[in-house]
Amino acid sequence: ANRHIIDVIAGDGIGREVMPAAIRCLDKLSAVHGFELEWRERDWNSERYLRDGAMMPKNGIEQMSDGDAIFLGAVGTPEIPDDVTLWGLLIPIRRDFMQYINLRPTKLLPGLEARVRGVDSIDLMVVRENVEGEYSEVGGRVYRGRPEEIAIQEAIFTRTGVDRVARFAFDLAARRTGRLVSATKSNGIIHSMPFWDEVVAGVGAEYPQVELESVLIDALAARGVLHPSSFDVVVASNLFGDILSDLFSAVAGSIGIAPSANLNPEREFPSLFEPVHGSAPDIAGKGLANPVGQMWAGAMMLDHLGETAAAAEIISAFEGVLASGNSTRDLGGSLSTDDFTDAVFDRLGA
Ligand code: NAD
Ligand code: IPM
Ligand code: MN
Repeated sequence: ANRHIIDVIAGDGIGREVMPAAIRCLDKLSAVHGFELEWRERDWNSERYLRDGAMMPKNGIEQMSDGDAIFLGAVGTPEIPDDVTLWGLLIPIRRDFMQYINLRPTKLLPGLEARVRGVDSIDLMVVRENVEGEYSEVGGRVYRGRPEEIAIQEAIFTRTGVDRVARFAFDLAARRTGRLVSATKSNGIIHSMPFWDEVVAGVGAEYPQVELESVLIDALAARGVLHPSSFDVVVASNLFGDILSDLFSAVAGSIGIAPSANLNPEREFPSLFEPVHGSAPDIAGKGLANPVGQMWAGAMMLDHLGETAAAAEIISAFEGVLASGNSTRDLGGSLSTDDFTDAVFDRLGA
């Protein structure tokens, strides 16, 4: 049987609730579909930081490099500044493993139609640039100790970086409905955005079958709320893509349902799969977390590993539960994380 080695980082907060929920379902699917999942559990979280002074071991990246994928819950706790926890784990993984594409689908799931007013379908993909742009390390400094304290960081957009994310998005749009929206801000005094537009349009010249529309990010956000069905593929810089992915998933019902694939398209390194949401300290430990985002991320991981039938099955299972009118509290329902997971689990292999 095919055997897949997966590094598991449940992380903090609700990451530790939705991760076991998803793993239970994936283990059942592996039995049903005849493949093996070997989980390498990593206790790389904020507790470890408080104990050992580091989120992961010095050679943590190296330890994962022979794995087939990384499955992450969420990282972050109110007790530690976010830049310490995130720059100590998630950001280095994305960068060292060259996961320069962050693919984030949004769909209007069955059973949630009533929560989304005036829209009969949403089926879109955010293609987020994942290693450069506004999240650069260049100039990241706060000059303190004088009245005019100043914080400086430079955004970095390379031709290579914009070209490859644009190419990925055009390829995806060509396989879907042939419509691509590029998020921009070339009207502001943001010198990187006219360059983004130029590189995206240049790649577009190679895709006559795809219709490219550049939309200013502020107007795009409003259109995302009012007319989410008008989008198919949206390509965006690191920060714009981050914001848009929360916005689209909330419009489709809740940020608790949204998945995310941090891809190294060349497959030279493992890719990382995680929900879009964070560790949600406000609901952690209460059994209220929606496990759909983690389960759907698991489906994207199975797809990536070539287990397409199992991937489709977990998606239809959580869709079936939602369609029957059962959901967690963020979606207006009353099920706990465990009750929702039981309902999904029972549908698998039926
Ligand atoms: P968040 O996504 O954790 O939560 C925002 C809101 O959405 C909260 O009200 C929360 O209760 C709700 N929510 C999120 N996921 C949910 C789920 N599955 N089910 C039900 N409700 C859900 O964002 P935040 O509060 O801004 O951040 C909390 C921490 O998580 C911070 O430390 C932040 O840096 C971190 N974070 C980590 C990741 C990651 O690990 N990839 C992503 C985003 C935020
Ligand atoms: C996400 C998160 C991260 C990001 C944070 C936690 C660094 O918000 O994956 O969407 O901004 O990329
Ligand atoms: Mn985010």
